Amino acid sequence: MESIVVRGGRPLNGTLRVQGSKNSALPILAACVLTDGVCVLNNCPVLTDVGAAVKILRCLGCRVTRAGHTLTVDARDVSCDCIPFALMREMRSSIVFLGAMLSRLGRAKLCAPGGCEIGARPIDLHLAALRTLGVQVTDCDGALDFRVTKRLRGAVIRLPFPSVGATENVMLAAVFADGQTTVLNAAREPEIEDLARFLNACGCRVHLCAGGTVVINGVRRAHGAEHTVIPDRIAALGTMAATAACGGDVTLTDVVPAHFQSVHRVFLRAGCRLDVKADTLRIRSDGRLRAVGTICTLPYPGFPTDAQAAVMAMLCTAKGTSRMTETIFERRFNHVPQLQRMGAHIKIKGNAAVISGVTRLHGAAVCAGDLRAGGALVAAALAAEGVSTITGVHHIDRGYEDPEGQLRMLGADIERSGGSGNETAESE
Ligand code: EPZ
Repeated sequence: MESIVVRGGRPLNGTLRVQGSKNSALPILAACVLTDGVCVLNNCPVLTDVGAAVKILRCLGCRVTRAGHTLTVDARDVSCDCIPFALMREMRSSIVFLGAMLSRLGRAKLCAPGGCEIGARPIDLHLAALRTLGVQVTDCDGALDFRVTKRLRGAVIRLPFPSVGATENVMLAAVFADGQTTVLNAAREPEIEDLARFLNACGCRVHLCAGGTVVINGVRRAHGAEHTVIPDRIAALGTMAATAACGGDVTLTDVVPAHFQSVHRVFLRAGCRLDVKADTLRIRSDGRLRAVGTICTLPYPGFPTDAQAAVMAMLCTAKGTSRMTETIFERRFNHVPQLQRMGAHIKIKGNAAVISGVTRLHGAAVCAGDLRAGGALVAAALAAEGVSTITGVHHIDRGYEDPEGQLRMLGADIERSGGSGNETAESE
């Protein structure tokens, strides 16, 4: 079985370029479908989730090529209106192809998406918003059939919760709608801004207003464009958490520190030093961390749920008691039993975890149950004394590009064993 083997207890030192954002690249790849031209996307990370998006694009009729971190998507011949069950189940983001297919083809057939098992993750908000735009939805035993008769009509949509995926789907569906669409209580994540920037480069008219309102004015067509995906704020935070826990001095380049401002104070409170510049962030830690009080995950600009696991791993050895409340997903503590195997003292009470810092974690055989749990286990293993073996590596490969190679550049003793490595590039 494939695993990542870590000999922990070394400080991390050096400079690391942060990968492109998975959660930005995926909806932008979906957005290529609504263009009738060729799109060039730079800074696309090499990940299995990106590989899954490429498979969907090809299935819909796009020609896709990769050169390093640049993906070229020729969407001129899009014609297929169906995403097969197996491709839909590969990842959650398969659902954002829906909005783009409705814009381009006026119809789509697919089923509910897969993705990390971190909660129920329904798509009711997506469906309700699309119905408001005039999409007809028929459910035949789980196979969903979507139709647009004539054109979609612009509308005012108030999301009951600022869902990232629902906001993206409405943006993609509304770009060719008649008139104006206004999304109230929309998600404000940097990935939404990146998608809007790409759509506008393609000739769409998407305006993000303060306070979570998105205004989309319908246009007749979208052409191809070149775009550079934003840096991955969650990957950056994972490296910061590992550096904080291990001790060391790491400079992250090609980041937008403002994208994770809400998390800076957590690292400062824990005793780390941060030097923040326009597109670099330097973190220094002596490895002796302090507890940080209570953290609550919230939609952007609050503390990101995707960083909850990695920051919890770092707090396992912080002196005192920290509390982490998860408000976005119902089952996002997959990493807790695994961290406990490494000697962490964590108690779960409902949606809150109480972390009592221990002096040191010890190496153990652990299994990643989802992507961010995997990132957290790698961070914990780097800080732990002794050898850890992490299985469930396929989860890690969904969102972290070459994690062993990246961490080795910072002095970590980490290697992959028993597998053929991340095969995403070949499958693309
Ligand atoms: C995106 O998921 C991200 N995924 C997630 O990152 C991230 O954790 C999440 O946003 C929140 O920031 C991608 O961008 C590919 P949501 P998404 O719709 O769009 C409920 C990672 O590790 N909800 O904002 O699925 C839902 O169940 C991944 O990179 C409904 O009830 O998140 C959840 O509790 C994991 N009905 C909450 O809203 C709906 O129709 C937030 O979901 C939609 C969502």
